[in-house]
Amino acid sequence: MAARGVGILARLPLHSQRRSRVQRSIPRHFSCPGTVAANFGSEEQPLGSAETGSEDKIPKKRFSEVQKERREQAQRTVLIHCPNNINEKKFLKYLSQHGPINKHFFYESFGFYAVVEFCQKDSVNSLQSEAHTPNKSTESAIPFKSRFLNLKLKNLSNQIPEQLSAQTNNQSPPSSKKLFELLNYAESIDDQLYTLLKTFQLTEENVRLRHLTCSLIEDIAAAYFPGCVIRPFGSSVNTFGKLGCDLDMFLDLDEIGKPNVHKVIIISFARCISSTSLHVRNAGNFLMEFQMKNVPSERIATQKILSVIGECLDNFGPGCVGVQKILNARCPLVRFSHQASGFQCDLTTNNSIALKSSELLYIYGSLDARVRALVFSVRCWARAHSLTSSIPGAWITNFSLTMMVIFFLQRRSPPILPTLDSLKSLADAEDRCILDGNNCTFIRDLYKIKPSGNTETLELLLKEFFEYFGNFAFNKNSINIRQGREQNKPDSSPLYIQNPFETSLNISKNVSQSQLQKFVELARDSAWILEQEDKGQPSPSSKQPWGLAALLLPPGAASPSLSKKKKKPMAEKVKGLLAAIKSNSADISKGSRGKRAISTQA
Ligand code: CTP
Ligand code: MG
Repeated sequence: MAARGVGILARLPLHSQRRSRVQRSIPRHFSCPGTVAANFGSEEQPLGSAETGSEDKIPKKRFSEVQKERREQAQRTVLIHCPNNINEKKFLKYLSQHGPINKHFFYESFGFYAVVEFCQKDSVNSLQSEAHTPNKSTESAIPFKSRFLNLKLKNLSNQIPEQLSAQTNNQSPPSSKKLFELLNYAESIDDQLYTLLKTFQLTEENVRLRHLTCSLIEDIAAAYFPGCVIRPFGSSVNTFGKLGCDLDMFLDLDEIGKPNVHKVIIISFARCISSTSLHVRNAGNFLMEFQMKNVPSERIATQKILSVIGECLDNFGPGCVGVQKILNARCPLVRFSHQASGFQCDLTTNNSIALKSSELLYIYGSLDARVRALVFSVRCWARAHSLTSSIPGAWITNFSLTMMVIFFLQRRSPPILPTLDSLKSLADAEDRCILDGNNCTFIRDLYKIKPSGNTETLELLLKEFFEYFGNFAFNKNSINIRQGREQNKPDSSPLYIQNPFETSLNISKNVSQSQLQKFVELARDSAWILEQEDKGQPSPSSKQPWGLAALLLPPGAASPSLSKKKKKPMAEKVKGLLAAIKSNSADISKGSRGKRAISTQA
């Protein structure tokens, strides 16, 4: 086993790597009774340990609980654009006139922003009631009053010197240089994998900002669809999100019209009805329905809804820029940038199955600490070698890579992860879930899943992952996490990874033969590099990147084995490029058979 360096995990506390300057505690009178304001990197227990991956000892909550708490937290939160020399203490004193503040932090992203979570929702209303419509001499403001505010200083000359101004929280991943430094300091390959995980995983603050962004978009969508919910899904919530990953969200209209939910429409309608009559309103021979417009298909309904929300975001959404309506994709979506948070957002609707996949991945990511460490390294490795891309095309996606890691861990002896079928067999009646005719049932209580007895090291797992997929019979077998075993491919797609819930779908249908080939070659090379590590090469005293760092070196850099490869003939390169372009344009026009026509990755 390779063991080097001085143990970076022991030397560098996580929060010191993440913050550009250390946050200070804020006097108690600004905070809710019994809570500590600010500095939550060190004092607060995150809502879901696996979500940010910070502490393994914290009890693991159910996915639905974490999402519910995050949503409520976001509803009590405001986003404020501030002058960058703002005095933190005065700022908090000013805001706490509207009620006690639970948490806050500052960050920079094309401006200086504060995220402020009040203890009560009423404080947000109070703050909003005090806010003014901006007075511009040349332009005219559209008076959409949201929770995204702008703070101005009345008297600039009154401000205190810069050294007392607010400190910012970093929302970006480290530079490659910094990463290589951190990896080279590690004492073993296992240490390197955990270092990479801790460096790239979403921070508590970044998770909050993601939920806040969804909540702000929900306010806009609710202008059309009162009672709707915007739910984040994908890597923002499934425990596999890297800093900088996109923000997938879907507009959930299913809650609307469900009886007995505390929805605005029902409440306003029922305001004058007594609580007793509320209980019995569906009793007897009567059933009340909403009058609604009908369209010929669900797809048309989805397109119409997204079209109008897209218009709304474009015209009235504060901070929403570059809105694109991609309505002819198999899964129609609205793509936009939320400038203040810096997130690239993809908004879909009717996507409960994708949310269920996110919940399943959350469970897999929470079961064993090695899972996320391995997934992050494989994702970073794939990105470093341009196997994944932020441009849509014939490339493998992060979602597919995650499925491959899960499958690989199900194949270990003893298995590190259970199959989806075994998670289904553990399910209770309350876990039963059928979505669009697909059985999406699995156990959701993490405590009911027996931990694995497998004790293999990450170093071994990483090497075997590359060996396994470097020699996988992709030409005849498919990957299937439901059964955890290889199966015959049902069609001729180069890479076939079965969608766990919509089992007739291949989540990697877009991947071309040449991209798969590239993956296989790089996997074999990487297994070889790790093999050399075992033999103790290069020497521990050398300054050469080693272990995981050697695997992450970009093509062309002096990686001993990856650069020893013969150059591809030009004809082969052109052929690969044409295949990628062909598959790319087919994807955009048809949409992938999976969830979306255009994918983004960090
Ligand atoms: N999804 C799916 N089938 C696909 C593609 C995506 O079911 N063919 C669902 C998955 O639940 C996935 C989510 O849509 O997690 C978001 O897709 P995407 O953004 O491509 O992947 P992420 O998992 O979010 O990873 P990344 O960090 O690259 O955004
Ligand atoms: Mg995503």
